[in-house]
Amino acid sequence: MDDKHIVAVIDFGSQYTRLIVRRVRELGFNAKLYALEDLDQIADPGAIILSGGPKSTSDADAPDIDYNWLTSFNVPVLGVCYGMQLLNIKHGGTVKPGNKKEYGPADLIPCACEGLYQGVSPCSQVWMSHSDTVDRISDDCKVIARNKEGVPVSLQWSNQCFGIQFHPEVSHSIEGNTILRNFLAEADHLAPFDIGDFKNRMIREIRERVGDREVVCGVSGGVDSTVLAVLLHEAGINSRAIFVDNGLLRKNEAEEVRANFDRVGVKIEMVDASEQFLSALAGVTEPEKKRKIIGELFVEVFQQAVGTADMLAQGTLYPDVIESASNSKSKASTIKTHHNRVGKILELQAQGKVLEPLAELFKDEVRELGVSLGIPHDILWRHPFPGPGLAVRCPGAVTKERLDIIRECDAIFIGKLKEHGWYHKIWQAYAGLIPVKTVGVKGDERSYEFATNLRAIVSEDAMTADWVELPYSLLREISNAILNQVKGINRVLYDISTKPPASIEWE
Ligand code: XMP
Repeated sequence: MDDKHIVAVIDFGSQYTRLIVRRVRELGFNAKLYALEDLDQIADPGAIILSGGPKSTSDADAPDIDYNWLTSFNVPVLGVCYGMQLLNIKHGGTVKPGNKKEYGPADLIPCACEGLYQGVSPCSQVWMSHSDTVDRISDDCKVIARNKEGVPVSLQWSNQCFGIQFHPEVSHSIEGNTILRNFLAEADHLAPFDIGDFKNRMIREIRERVGDREVVCGVSGGVDSTVLAVLLHEAGINSRAIFVDNGLLRKNEAEEVRANFDRVGVKIEMVDASEQFLSALAGVTEPEKKRKIIGELFVEVFQQAVGTADMLAQGTLYPDVIESASNSKSKASTIKTHHNRVGKILELQAQGKVLEPLAELFKDEVRELGVSLGIPHDILWRHPFPGPGLAVRCPGAVTKERLDIIRECDAIFIGKLKEHGWYHKIWQAYAGLIPVKTVGVKGDERSYEFATNLRAIVSEDAMTADWVELPYSLLREISNAILNQVKGINRVLYDISTKPPASIEWE
């Protein structure tokens, strides 16, 4: 992608960094995240944002940045949290450990309703997440906002250089977007973010990169791989779409996927490898091991199906790239290995054989791209489904019997959500298995069966999630249907865990 006049977001390791990129794009400008190791890729930025991070500026291994390099571009710079503390030090100020870690909502009181705080309320809720605070500031530094206790939480060193202690990118910072917009207004000629342009550029780049080679892509029926397959089709290159049934799919999924691809005019090849996957998973209970086995076997099965194709295309998204630390060099810690980032894929990548055209996009942007490619709404708004499939919803051993139980519970749950108009209000929902047998009564008989967990969440890009307050009457209807119809289940639980600390999937 052409990165001229982009907003360069430099990653100091905060869990929220990629949200900054997202917010900037929502405001209509192109933004990209850079690891500290990749700063040489920044050539002609329009503005620079230094993210927050988990370190203290006084740590021996605190990430640093060359201030001369930073100012050499002569563009607006915004330091967020750690980024602000670093800027303060660079300007000759000091940072001290706070009395306690401040995490959560706080009041922001702008000193004047101008500049960064143009149009911001006199007292505005922002989200704090830090332990250090600025101490001394340099003579050229002006305090432009304080918290309720009078502590400086926003600094300005020049008409191009700003700092904020809080996180404007987090939705709990009520006027965060206004503050970011005000910052971006300081920049000249920022590159716009427009999905139609993006699509045309992507198609051009795909054609250039692929030439007359054959590209194969794996499709799952999910939004990302469907958009990818249609994009490759639209680019008019020599491509094949392969669907691997890994035996970890939801009820009737293979048939639905085939029907959906018929609707978008892309021919797919189906490979039934369910037995191979289930035997490779036999007896494996450790979640990361399951993920690795599924990821590696997928590549193997896929390679067999592919034969001699020259390149592999994947629907990897921006968050996947950032979350798998093995690839992103991100300072954020790895939570789970993403299946697009297992060893074999990385090997292919090193040989330049992996094409990931969506790797700069967030999920909602992929959906927007899908709309511009003419993909029907119901396909684009399907709930996400993880690559390792039902295996990550089946703690402990993965067997066909257990998967069948999940399939039945899930089909009832999702069917009821659709029937009652809840499906599209929810970001993701599923039923999983709790492999613990408990005692119950079915008919006149004692039962000793597993439980199912129902999960329904709302989220923005799956980084954080909140459980959905489904009506009791609906939960009752779903529970009754599952208890009456699914053999092997005598207990239904609704998961009321937020992410963090819980993740969306159980494994
Ligand atoms: P977690 O469980 O990490 O899930 O909160 C976040 C989102 O990612 C999906 N997920 C995956 N998707 N491959 C995928 O394609 C994976 O390995 C994977 N693991 C989790 C999950 O369904 C949720 O939407």
